[in-house]
Amino acid sequence: MLPPEFINEVKEKNDITDVIGGYVTLKRSGRISKGLCPFHSEKTPSFMVYGDTSSFYCFGCQTGGDVVTFISKIENLDYIEAVKFLANRAGMTLPEEGRYDGLSHMRMRIREQNREAGRFFYRALYSPAGKQALAYFHTRGLTDEIIRRFGLGWSPDGWDELVRHLNGLGFKRDEILAADLGFNNKSGRLTDRFRNRVMFPIIDLQGNVVGFGGRRFTEDAFGGKYVNTGDTLIYKKTNHLFAMNLAKNSKTRELILCEGYMDVIALHQAGFTNAVAALGTAVTQPQAKLLHRYADRVVLSQDGDEAGQKSIARSIPIMKAEGLDVRVLTLTGAKDPDEFIRRFGPERFKRLLEGSSNDIEYSLTRISGKYDISTDDGRLHFLREACEYLSGLGSLEREVYAGRIADKLHIEKSAVLSQAAASARRREQSEKAKEFREMAKTTAGVGSKVNPERSANLRASNAEYALIRMLFSHQEMIHRTAEKLPTEVVVTDFGRRIYQAFIEMNQDGQEITVSLLSQRFSPEELSEIVRVINGNGNFDGSDLDTLIRIIETEHETPKPQDAANLTEDELLKQMSLLKKKKK
Ligand code: UTP
Ligand code: MN
Repeated sequence: MLPPEFINEVKEKNDITDVIGGYVTLKRSGRISKGLCPFHSEKTPSFMVYGDTSSFYCFGCQTGGDVVTFISKIENLDYIEAVKFLANRAGMTLPEEGRYDGLSHMRMRIREQNREAGRFFYRALYSPAGKQALAYFHTRGLTDEIIRRFGLGWSPDGWDELVRHLNGLGFKRDEILAADLGFNNKSGRLTDRFRNRVMFPIIDLQGNVVGFGGRRFTEDAFGGKYVNTGDTLIYKKTNHLFAMNLAKNSKTRELILCEGYMDVIALHQAGFTNAVAALGTAVTQPQAKLLHRYADRVVLSQDGDEAGQKSIARSIPIMKAEGLDVRVLTLTGAKDPDEFIRRFGPERFKRLLEGSSNDIEYSLTRISGKYDISTDDGRLHFLREACEYLSGLGSLEREVYAGRIADKLHIEKSAVLSQAAASARRREQSEKAKEFREMAKTTAGVGSKVNPERSANLRASNAEYALIRMLFSHQEMIHRTAEKLPTEVVVTDFGRRIYQAFIEMNQDGQEITVSLLSQRFSPEELSEIVRVINGNGNFDGSDLDTLIRIIETEHETPKPQDAANLTEDELLKQMSLLKKKKK
């Protein structure tokens, strides 16, 4: 355990807005900042960071907490590790390194297993039994040198080849399951995750093997084309980029982003050692941040198929939001970079790279590809969609590309510009309306899970929340409030528990902080508390009596529920409560 004073100091030295700003692009207004939530996917920001209470809350997914909670969620660390992480960030030395605590020990065991597994697969590839797998790599044009550089391998064809090997090295069932190198089959037998597949180790920036992808390479094999390590304590697919450990050493500030393992490996073999892959998905914000650590420009080199183009469309705004210069490479005559290099050679690929178009050119070409510009109808539709797209760009870019569109359609540039402006206004209005609707929707239903009594006691609950908010920012009032309002009078169970906690902590002479509360409440409850203490409305001591009065009257007169206002669930709940009472 780390001493509480140390934890407090860690928090003081890690300003929540700064820390979160390292992961999320935040727009600041005063002490409140807003951004796109990193914990769920959204297009309009509902993730709030509150400097005053050192807390965050997302109105979209109702996640909230303090700086430590944030780090533990985003970095996948337990509480103590998150504190250590932040201590490190602030340049503080740990009071005294204790022995390995639970999760970090398991993390170490997972890393060790992955390293062993990587060696095992590599050895298997060059064993007599791996002949067919090795031949597969060779027919795909890989040299032994590149196989070694990437640590490729083969998972033997059996049930528990690796499992037995790991057992022999002292790894237990729960550890093998935690590494996702094995799974319990239907009869409960620990079975190899990867069987008879060519193996691609995924390596983090520190050089640890953190997971694997295994590709089917024989016709008769069963299962999907790829089997991948699921999320483990040390690996989250959406935070990693394949081959970043190698690409980070390339001398340019430019990275090539492809889709698959084979593309990356083929590019590296051909000398493009700055190729990485997001492994079959559109780029995520953490990946974009990772890219930006090592590059200013990213050339998207996805497959030519529809899935690849969709993934480009989704990736562009995410990468641009991180400040990356995005280019898009268009492949012709091959379905992916791997095939292109094999068919046309590195020189041609290099020319393709040099001629890659910027993201705007790419997007406009893609839009025009959808319509037949030789017909009036096609021209109209193209114009409409292109203007829609232009409306999302900056004014300078809008000017330039409006000109190009006008030329293409043989119309006035001013016509294009005014269309785009109208489109921008429409977009702005509909975004505002949507934001408002979502805000209203989420706040209405929010908290019903942790505070099920709220909906039936809205007036009381609102007063309780206002009281809690007031007491949090005026902690000197807690003592006086406790004398006037006994805990049992508080109507909802959730409100009462928070109130009780406030009183107890205050009696102990502690300053009430979100972190302190996190030790008493579940993460879901904490999220709701964070929302409450950061809510609207400024209450102070002069409101105390009013709030207490509301709570008291609500306590005395439990209202018969107006059935018309209840949702079906609530109605059923009420009815079953009544039945119980009658018995
Ligand atoms: P591709 O199907 O393009 O595979 O998927 P590839 O890597 O180019 O393989 P070859 O050339 O057919 O041998 C691109 C990436 O998407 C992920 C993998 O990371 C793959 O490299 N993927 C694909 C999966 O995770 N599972 C799948 O079933 C398919
Ligand atoms: Mn491929």
